Amino acid sequence: MVGTRLGRGMLDFSYQVRGLPTFVRVRSAPIFFAQGKPLPSLPRPLTDELTMAGAPFAMFTCQQGAEPALKADLLAQGWTLAFSRPGFLTVKATPSAATERLPVSPYARSVAWSLGYADAADTLERCGQVLALVGERQPAQFHVWQRDQGIVGRGFEPFPSTVAVEAREQLLAAADGIGLRPAERELAARDAMVLDVVIVDERRWWVGWHITTEDPSTRWPGGVPPLARRTDVVSRAYYKFAEAIAWSEFPLKAEDHCAEIGCAPGGASQFFLEQGLRVIGIDPGDVDARIAEHARFRHIRARGGDLPRRTFRDCKWLFVDSNVAPDKSLTTVEHLVTNANVRIRGLIVQLKLSDYEHGHELPKWLARVSGWGYGDVAARQLAFNRRELTLRARWPRASRRSGSNA
Ligand SMILES: C[S@@+](CC[C@H](N)C(=O)[O-])C[C@H]1O[C@@H](n2cnc3c(N)ncnc32)[C@H](O)[C@@H]1O
Repeated sequence: MVGTRLGRGMLDFSYQVRGLPTFVRVRSAPIFFAQGKPLPSLPRPLTDELTMAGAPFAMFTCQQGAEPALKADLLAQGWTLAFSRPGFLTVKATPSAATERLPVSPYARSVAWSLGYADAADTLERCGQVLALVGERQPAQFHVWQRDQGIVGRGFEPFPSTVAVEAREQLLAAADGIGLRPAERELAARDAMVLDVVIVDERRWWVGWHITTEDPSTRWPGGVPPLARRTDVVSRAYYKFAEAIAWSEFPLKAEDHCAEIGCAPGGASQFFLEQGLRVIGIDPGDVDARIAEHARFRHIRARGGDLPRRTFRDCKWLFVDSNVAPDKSLTTVEHLVTNANVRIRGLIVQLKLSDYEHGHELPKWLARVSGWGYGDVAARQLAFNRRELTLRARWPRASRRSGSNA
């Protein structure tokens, strides 16, 4: 069944959806044909804007465990909760919600306008339902991913699942007739409309769309960077910092000096060394021999706050991954970056949350870093973060990019 080409015809009336950008005009459901015959059992879209009396729905994926924090952020922006599963939720706009853009939260790994869901045991039928929900929209690309099947870092990592890879192939085969492609090399273009398909349950795929922005995470399927799983990483912090750098778009150059506070056993430093950086790793703990013996690595067995500031004099980039409370990490960083002889151009601090409630202090942490004169100050729970938020900032303030949640 999979691989059968679908064609489509359209009914000829259209709707303007209130509250959505003007380029979203929903037309009646297309009729799909397989091998020249109309598919018999394709229902109308199961839900879409037409059935929602003009109130848009949005859908999100997030870490398992982060749902309460994400929900609190969405409620605060005037949206009400609709459907949820671990790692996935939908919300509906209330009249008080600002609906000209999608709601935001540092815990939202992906966010899209929701069109509803496809629900069928048969894959071809499910793919047809997805395409029916697309209607007259013309997304250039699509992303397919599965909601997290476990808690990140506890035996689960958010790499593309086998189920998602298969679904991508199935949808590609089904959508070929209408020219809808998966994002090239998994990375969507900027300012592009992307069709989002989230595998929420075995037979139920939620469908939505979003427009990509300058934030790279909007161009990654499900907001997960396209990193290859490796067997030789020293620790999972390798992926966390690879993602943090990709998200921050710091222009790391070979031979740049950096310091990492809380470097042991060395996964993040392994990534920095692979980028050609010179790394000062600061940690009282042991560093893996593959890193410790590297020619561009120097291990200082100490706590970050105990070192003279001249240690950091040549460092352009500062990374902090010590397992201490955010206020304490920021005090260590403040002590360094407010010194006239230290010139840190880019800063990444892992803010370890004692629990998700602790994240309420995020505005204070962001304001504190901005107060040192940094720009582009933003935080996000990365796909490869555990119960932590990644904070990034750039110097000087003028280098700030727009669109962050600072
Ligand atoms: C999550 S692990 C870091 C993982 C590491 N970044 C990697 O890439 O493998 C946290 C580390 O923080 C270190 N640590 C805790 N307090 C510290 C401090 N005040 N200064 C430096 N390191 C600290 C611990 O010894 C521990 O090795």
